[in-house]
Amino acid sequence: MRRSLVFILVSGVALSVLVASGRPQDARTQTHAEVDGLALTPPMGWYPWNIFGQEPQTEKLIREIVDALVASGLKDAGYAYVGPDEGICFSRGADGKLVSNLARYPSGLRGLGDYIHGKGLKYALYTDAGSKTCSTAMPGTKGHEFEDMRAFADWRADYIKIDWCNSEGQDIVKAYSLLAEVQRAAGRPVVHSLCSWGEGYPWRWAGAIGHMWRTTSDICAPGQADWARALRIAFANEKLAPFAGPGRWNDPDMMVVGMPGLSEVQSRSLFSLWCMMASPLIAGNDLRDMTRPTIDILTNLEAIAVDQDPLGAQGHVVWNDGNVSLWAGKPLFDGSRAALLFYQGKHKAQQRITWEEIGFAAADELYVRNLWTHETSGPHAGGFSASVGPGDVAFLRISKTKDFPIPPVLVADTYLVSLRAAGSRPEKLAGTVTVLNKGSADLPPWRVDPKSLPPWLSVAVMGSGKSQTFVNTVMTAGLKRGSAHAVVRADNVEPISGRPMSALYYDVDLEVVRNIRR
Ligand code: GLA
Repeated sequence: MRRSLVFILVSGVALSVLVASGRPQDARTQTHAEVDGLALTPPMGWYPWNIFGQEPQTEKLIREIVDALVASGLKDAGYAYVGPDEGICFSRGADGKLVSNLARYPSGLRGLGDYIHGKGLKYALYTDAGSKTCSTAMPGTKGHEFEDMRAFADWRADYIKIDWCNSEGQDIVKAYSLLAEVQRAAGRPVVHSLCSWGEGYPWRWAGAIGHMWRTTSDICAPGQADWARALRIAFANEKLAPFAGPGRWNDPDMMVVGMPGLSEVQSRSLFSLWCMMASPLIAGNDLRDMTRPTIDILTNLEAIAVDQDPLGAQGHVVWNDGNVSLWAGKPLFDGSRAALLFYQGKHKAQQRITWEEIGFAAADELYVRNLWTHETSGPHAGGFSASVGPGDVAFLRISKTKDFPIPPVLVADTYLVSLRAAGSRPEKLAGTVTVLNKGSADLPPWRVDPKSLPPWLSVAVMGSGKSQTFVNTVMTAGLKRGSAHAVVRADNVEPISGRPMSALYYDVDLEVVRNIRR
């Protein structure tokens, strides 16, 4: 049965040590995302560090947050990756292998992953490329790279944030390249999130290694948002716009939306800036305890549409007079463009933008969609005036037509199918995964390459458009007692832009209790 595991271990993948250059990566350099199809739009999810720090991260807390993420509507808005950060989750055993901290995570890290997958969410874990994590409470991967990535694969992580503490004397490009190599060898596709806070200029080389990289230091000390620090990060991160694109994202850190220390206006502005910069949208607040305005900000699908746009352009500052900055350079998948006026002055002001500043022709007559009031006006000739209050934004989408379609936002009922054959008579087992698209367009059918599946499993895609169901079938005749596991990959294309969508993966477990007759 073991031979039927869908993943063939890829050993001996050439270690691609890239030389840091000052230019954006050559378009011909293969990105990590081209191999695994992951994170072609910025990952969305929740991580505990900003609000909780190390304490009180436990399995109970993470499960409560997972339940709140589903109940609050964040899951339906596309947030998917969730799990402990530096939460004292594991230690290293005498044999060198990682073991779950069962005192804090009684189901073990695999059990927590199964819970998260069963809710239709993706599992995020944390480690460090040095000898220890930042708090020194957990072992880092240095010298144990393969065993550790094997453990993360066994725990079924879908996303691994890899910190850079306690890494003195290590070559950053070599260290992260080795981790990417052994991650692939471990056989489970994961979003690889590098966290060196900009050290080593990861935007120059990390697209071949991972999917996203922190560009700056931490956005806050745990528990309290810091508006001034968040803005310094935004203005540093926007300068790196040329380095971002599908599958390779500048990460200005987890968000502080809805945290103590930030007003509602500031939360709305921060969220708009993150969407404008095509940043990973990783919420960092306590999801169990959100005000209505916080939920409305985090789940604003029209703002999320700008972040999740299939073209993957990062918006940036076009001009900044000290009081007001205009952020543009963000063409969207339907030919529209996003623009953002961010006002840092003291009194409400009226500000005009011209069509040429945001990439249209001066003579164009255009419709303007306000992404926070959800109102469309126009057509307007030449430009548009918006009134903006202190600390606030005018977050706009501008188009030649009145339609403002939303790109795909996927919501699955589960990412884990568990099949069990209890008797010795042959039978047909089936389990489903249903994926809804909350975006505007009907999707073409998802494609699963039958050659990528183990011999015991077949997958059919039923339905079309907004709701599609993967039917996973096992004919048990002749199967031997034991268990098997497969990771199914499905691919699709966004129909308006024709761009590939992020690959969708889910797990199928098969347990055969007795040998089964032919
Ligand atoms: C670093 C990272 C944070 C968090 C902590 C955990 O500071 O930048 O996001 O993961 O480590 O110790």
